[in-house]
Amino acid sequence: MTTPLTTAEHDAEQPKRPVKVWDLPVRLFHWALVAALAISWWSGEEGNFTVHFISGHVVVGLIVFRVLWGVLGSQTARFRDFVRGPGAVLRYARRMFGSEPEYSVGHNPAGAVMVLLLMVVVAVQAGTGLFASEMTYAFVEGPLAPLVDSGTSEALTSLHKSLLFNALLALVTLHIVAALAYLLIKRENLINAMVTGWKTLPAEKAERAPRMASPLVAAGVAAVAVAVAGGLYAMT
Ligand code: HEM
Repeated sequence: MTTPLTTAEHDAEQPKRPVKVWDLPVRLFHWALVAALAISWWSGEEGNFTVHFISGHVVVGLIVFRVLWGVLGSQTARFRDFVRGPGAVLRYARRMFGSEPEYSVGHNPAGAVMVLLLMVVVAVQAGTGLFASEMTYAFVEGPLAPLVDSGTSEALTSLHKSLLFNALLALVTLHIVAALAYLLIKRENLINAMVTGWKTLPAEKAERAPRMASPLVAAGVAAVAVAVAGGLYAMT
């Protein structure tokens, strides 16, 4: 009697072909976010608030863009496509630590939890920055700080500088370790896919190539994001 193949073994036996999985807006969002967060970290540490306010508003614009793109964008970018229930995440987590590649077309269920957490923490980090103030040596405040009393602004500043920032650093570290583990242990290069947009997948999965949204929709969504972030920056 022959033992039935696992999904991973079945996938491994199939011929593979390249499929476009990430559109340009998602890739630009990702690498621009990495750059803007690095600049925000450096400028915050240096007390260079001219640069910090610009990079912080770029982060706000990127998050506005990604939230709208998660509703109007390409199939793999849509929250509806990659947000799964706890059951699917747990089932995936049980087999995630094996050495076989997973061949997910978009985010896998565990990766989806990680990227959602990253998006939320980045959004709250940038959001608290809008209400933050520094009134001891630099005398600067975020554009929305005048809307709250000084005690609230101080509390949000403290969250922005310590707890949230440390949580973000921890999540980013975990995120990078996970991407490297997929590369080194499962031999699945998710990083290359986030750079080029393409993955090489088993034929069965490659048949269902994700639908890509129109660049015109991306331009409209980008215009809204620039208007929101630019409007907030103009208030500083
Ligand atoms: C500040 C640092 C970083 C942040 C905040 C961050 C955040 C994110 C977010 C939000 C996504 C989801 C993208 C989307 O659906 O639009 C993502 C995906 C991804 N990131 Fe990062 N990222 C960071 C750094 C990195 C670095 C340095 C690497 C490479 C080593 C990396 C590799 C990836 C990969 C491979 C994916 C796709 C995961 C998948 O296939 O499901 N990220 N990241």
